[in-house]
Amino acid sequence: MIEKPIFLIGMMGSGKSSLARALSEALTLPLLDTDMAIEKEVGSSISEIFLQQGEASFRAKEQALIHALSLEPQIIACGGGLPCHHDLMQEILDKGVVFYLEAPAKCLFDRISDGTQRPLLASFENFNQRFLERTAIYKQAHFTLDATMTIQQLVSECLKHL
Ligand code: S3P
Repeated sequence: MIEKPIFLIGMMGSGKSSLARALSEALTLPLLDTDMAIEKEVGSSISEIFLQQGEASFRAKEQALIHALSLEPQIIACGGGLPCHHDLMQEILDKGVVFYLEAPAKCLFDRISDGTQRPLLASFENFNQRFLERTAIYKQAHFTLDATMTIQQLVSECLKHL
């Protein structure tokens, strides 16, 4: 019986949103994607929010969203940088079960450098820098999953830990 939120964290391209959808179906739990929730609240895309309001404003919106979160069981796909700002890693560790989807930086970068609109995706060097800065924080997760596995394998892994 799942009694608290399940948070999925990791870099862009680690498959948080896909796994969140699959887990939400497998466990019949509601799904929250923090990027989508913020886009809906503001009425513009993440890229536009970064451009028009700046990253600090976006991070403040992530913080407000996590502060206000219901502690009901649900699956939460977190934006890649969410755990790395405003002490939100500690907050999500306290509020629920946290899974880190881990994969090599090059593999992640190759997955996402296909023209998708992501504001922080300038170059591999830039991406790798963020990856290196964030790894120690991500690794505090309750569980680390190999993000190169199939979604079905990842769902099974999660279920083993819940
Ligand atoms: C970000 C990741 C994005 C989004 C924003 C910033 C980051 O989410 O929140 O572009 O700092 O890594 P995804 O990881 O869902 O792409």
